[in-house]
Amino acid sequence: MDPEQFIRGFRESSPYIHRFRGQTFVISLEDESLSDGTLSSIASDVALLRSLGIGIILVFGAFSRIKYLLEKNRLHVETTPSGQVTTENILGVIREAVGSVRFEIESALSSGGDNSSMSGAQLKVVSGNYVIARPMGVINGVDHYFTGKPRHIRADFIKSHIASGEVVLISPLGVSLSGELFFLDSRDVAQAVAEEIRAQKLLFLLNEEGIPERKGQSTRELTSKEAKALLLRETLSPNQKDHLGRAIDTVSAGVDRVHLVNRLQDGALLLELFTRDGCGTLISADPFESIMQATLEDIPGILEIIRPLEASGILKGRNRETIETDISLFSVTRRDRNIIGCGALYPFFDQKMGELACLAVHPDYRRCGRAGNLLSWFEKKARENGLESIFVLSTQTGHWFSERGFSPCRLEDIPPSRRASYNHQRKSLILKKNL
Ligand SMILES: CC(C)(COP(=O)(O)OP(=O)(O)OC[C@H]1O[C@@H](n2cnc3c(N)ncnc32)[C@H](O)[C@@H]1OP(=O)(O)O)[C@@H](O)C(=O)NCCC(=O)NCCS
Repeated sequence: MDPEQFIRGFRESSPYIHRFRGQTFVISLEDESLSDGTLSSIASDVALLRSLGIGIILVFGAFSRIKYLLEKNRLHVETTPSGQVTTENILGVIREAVGSVRFEIESALSSGGDNSSMSGAQLKVVSGNYVIARPMGVINGVDHYFTGKPRHIRADFIKSHIASGEVVLISPLGVSLSGELFFLDSRDVAQAVAEEIRAQKLLFLLNEEGIPERKGQSTRELTSKEAKALLLRETLSPNQKDHLGRAIDTVSAGVDRVHLVNRLQDGALLLELFTRDGCGTLISADPFESIMQATLEDIPGILEIIRPLEASGILKGRNRETIETDISLFSVTRRDRNIIGCGALYPFFDQKMGELACLAVHPDYRRCGRAGNLLSWFEKKARENGLESIFVLSTQTGHWFSERGFSPCRLEDIPPSRRASYNHQRKSLILKKNL
């Protein structure tokens, strides 16, 4: 392993580790992972999340095991567009399948030999009657018998387990108030649980990439508005459409984020949660990345970007106190909660001019138009404040500004107070743009 890469990755994950501690995530998982050998790595990732202080609720489905047992018993299930028709016979098979899947997941979460990645995890796993169900009923003349929908989630019960550090395992079976058992779609259960306990995240582990872009790359972050537009795209598989629809509903019900993650990728949960760009698709109500007025909390992020540029002489040195005093003049590009770009607009109202300073983008995020977006943001701000032109002092980025409508000007063309503090040793070019 490359030590530098390891240290960089570990450091990159630390803000997420701090942020997620005390939060609760609901993970929705179908049972194919039991047969293809991926369950043990998912279990060890779950154990790691738990050890970082994250509350975990694992909602599992049992479709493959049910299918296998139905075929073995030569039973046929009728399905309608609303769901499957679960007769008493079928329910018997489902109970057997769900029970065996549950024991296998419990056993995977409990393993922990000395050399296993679960070593020392000692997870406490609980399951119980957390989901009160209601029958799906008769739809278009077809009785669905023991197929149900979640009616009520016993949130306090679940939360008390989470508070005790237990992993809550929830099956796709729910009990009605009259004591009958109903078969539920595990994804409905996961959604209902996440919404009811106000989980910070709902993660669907899929058998495929999240949502692919046109060029075959996964679409990493979507607002629910963008997700709705994508739903109209024909290139999505029925499974992707289904999950995207669920994500939109869950986010609008108050869950912060829904992630669609490919469970076949080793360590996908960790990559999605602890790296800046993730590996699946994240759906949130608000934009994942946006430009906004900076606050004092953003100063460490701003310093992280500008300190190396100051050290190499690209940006003029500014001490922390100056940035604190001027923070209302700064704006930042925030991606998730990380600062990846910044800039400041210093107004000179008498001359109706503004100085754009400290414009910088984190090296990992350059060449995607972010500085251009920051420039447009500052131009708009300047106009709103009655300024008629903006200028910059630059040693190495003159061409970047020229290509965006700036022209060289003389020292005499900038406000006298700024002229007085011009550093003749830096020999910065002065460029100006009329708005
Ligand atoms: C200059 C900077 C802000 C651009 O950020 P960005 O988000 O990559 O900018 P955009 O995506 O809007 O533009 C990228 C384009 O600018 C070009 N560019 C980057 N730095 C440049 C420079 N110093 N001179 C000329 N062009 C430059 C890139 O090559 C790219 O063009 P290309 O894709 O055609 O090759 C970023 O490189 C940075 O932070 N640099 C260090 C700080 C700095 O110089 N700030 C200016 C203060 S005066």
